[in-house]
Amino acid sequence: MNNRIVTLDEFILRRQKDFPFASGELSALLRDIGVAAKIVNREVNKAGLVNILGIADAENQSGDIVQKLDLYANDKLIDCLKNSGECAAVASEELEDIVTFSSVEGKSPKYVVVFDPLDGSSNIDVNVSVGTIFGIYRRISDKNESATLEDFFQAGTELVGAGYVIYGTSTILVYTTGNGVNGFTLDPTIGEFCLSHKDIKIPERGNYYSVNQGYYLKFDLEMRRYIDHCSDHNMGLRYIGSMVSDIHRILFQGGIFLYPNTRKYPQGKLRLLYECNPLSFVVENAGGKAITCQLDRILDVPVKHLHQRATIAIGSPAMVDEYKEFVERYSAVPTFN
Ligand code: AHG
Repeated sequence: MNNRIVTLDEFILRRQKDFPFASGELSALLRDIGVAAKIVNREVNKAGLVNILGIADAENQSGDIVQKLDLYANDKLIDCLKNSGECAAVASEELEDIVTFSSVEGKSPKYVVVFDPLDGSSNIDVNVSVGTIFGIYRRISDKNESATLEDFFQAGTELVGAGYVIYGTSTILVYTTGNGVNGFTLDPTIGEFCLSHKDIKIPERGNYYSVNQGYYLKFDLEMRRYIDHCSDHNMGLRYIGSMVSDIHRILFQGGIFLYPNTRKYPQGKLRLLYECNPLSFVVENAGGKAITCQLDRILDVPVKHLHQRATIAIGSPAMVDEYKEFVERYSAVPTFN
């Protein structure tokens, strides 16, 4: 048995060699994200030890400005991507507008990156797993000019790569460039992400469903019927409140994650650009499915603004299909509440 460790950088370079005309820019970008993930991981792990959990812009005892971890993660990702010269601009869940980068060493980068720097950040204070989600698009605008909003208003089908990092019992980076999904576990002793989950395939079905059932009475009839069906069939409920963590479990054990429209969030809560599209790209590439509660494929949904929200049903293919049948069957039934 060959037990030789394959690091993330090595894996990315090997993959690049499979494409004779690849320029190496996408590989460099993925490596930059890997570096940012290590820096964020370091801070997430010591969050309980240092006084970093305060309110944004609060001062710590030595008079330094302390940032909330999600803002810290946001800044680190931007720093890593800005300095590499492989990224023309970023859009982040934490920022109102896109941030464009000036050219580094005369390079004209052809990619833009979207990310949610620390998804599930409301969990940090209680030591529950959080994650970073990212997606990479080839830009549409002239690459000798500044990137524009239209570079970000591309449907998820145009993603050239996407992934996430989960800061959990171990730190794992999962990514795909549309050619298999692979996972890398951070070995803290050598400071490297090492290939640990090769060619991930989502199970056809799973034993768990994942939804904030506390909102049950606020869901539409078809969603309530589907949840009843899951419960009737003795499925377990697992909901972490951190989408990356829920999706990570579903990727390996199967299941379905649902975030439908509620009265508070008529369009759904989750962001299309930073959460739904990248995670749908990963899940689809692992053999799963992802649709809106209106039954459109997530990756086909037109992106009209940076912070657009979407409803989502994502996970094992047989379970997403089953959910779809419930919507088709019950959404025609009139409700009187
Ligand atoms: P945040 O990053 O603000 O904590 O949001 C987390 C997201 C997502 O990761 C999670 O699945 C969902 O919001 C949880 O929302 P509810 O608390 O409404 O269930």
